[in-house]
Amino acid sequence: VIRPLFAANWKMNKQVSEVRAYVQGFIQAALPLEKCEVVVAPPSTHLTTLGSEAQNRVFQIAGQNCGPAASGAFTGEIAPGMLKELGADWVLLGHSERRHVFHEDEALIGKRLSAALSAGLKVIFCVGETLSERKQGTTRAVIEKQLGNLKLAQKGKDLVVAYEPVWAIGTGEVATPEQAEEAHRWIAEWCGAELGQTPRILYGGSVKPENSAELMAQRHVDGLLVGGASLEAESFAAIIRHGVRGWESKVSLMKEVLK
Ligand code: 13P
Repeated sequence: VIRPLFAANWKMNKQVSEVRAYVQGFIQAALPLEKCEVVVAPPSTHLTTLGSEAQNRVFQIAGQNCGPAASGAFTGEIAPGMLKELGADWVLLGHSERRHVFHEDEALIGKRLSAALSAGLKVIFCVGETLSERKQGTTRAVIEKQLGNLKLAQKGKDLVVAYEPVWAIGTGEVATPEQAEEAHRWIAEWCGAELGQTPRILYGGSVKPENSAELMAQRHVDGLLVGGASLEAESFAAIIRHGVRGWESKVSLMKEVLK
């Protein structure tokens, strides 16, 4: 049985002094954590603090990116092993902001992916089309090209894909449940055919407490990757609470159908 995954991407936000209150707020929210997996990706400078605050294991910790090799002359980069040293089990790779703001190309993202997997990090691999690509009708082709790097991952590796349409990130314009489901189904089909396995597929882009249940009720939506609305513990907790509800309604519906 797969468990839904909820991930918070803090991006370049928060001060170290805010971390403790966040973790306390999250614990107080008393979430059904046995029913899901939760990952928080803080700026790298906050990893140690978040790790020691969250020692009770309410969530796992992720880096927001990692260097393309185990070590070496890569000024400004943080090696995957260094993230692990600070308590991260996960890393985000290929995030839209890395691709579009910092112009990371497929080759570089592939190197980061290989380095992360060799170090034993679990990967949340992000893909998604821009608005103009969607308007041109190339969404599926764009996503499949981005997924290409996953062929580097050996079967059985702990891999998660996040579908984050660029036009939905930070804009308040969430994909409709139908748009999300369609893209997630394409991703599931590609992974099944090319990798022989279907990883969990998260949706990201303007997720909020008000839309998380409906998104999670979609057949191929296995979790959410949340930016802005994950910055407050209460709001991230509400997303998880409603999201688990949406997930459970889907699962019981599917069980009915299979009867
Ligand atoms: P928002 O939730 O702020 O739209 O960001 C989504 C995102 O990029 C998460 O990685």
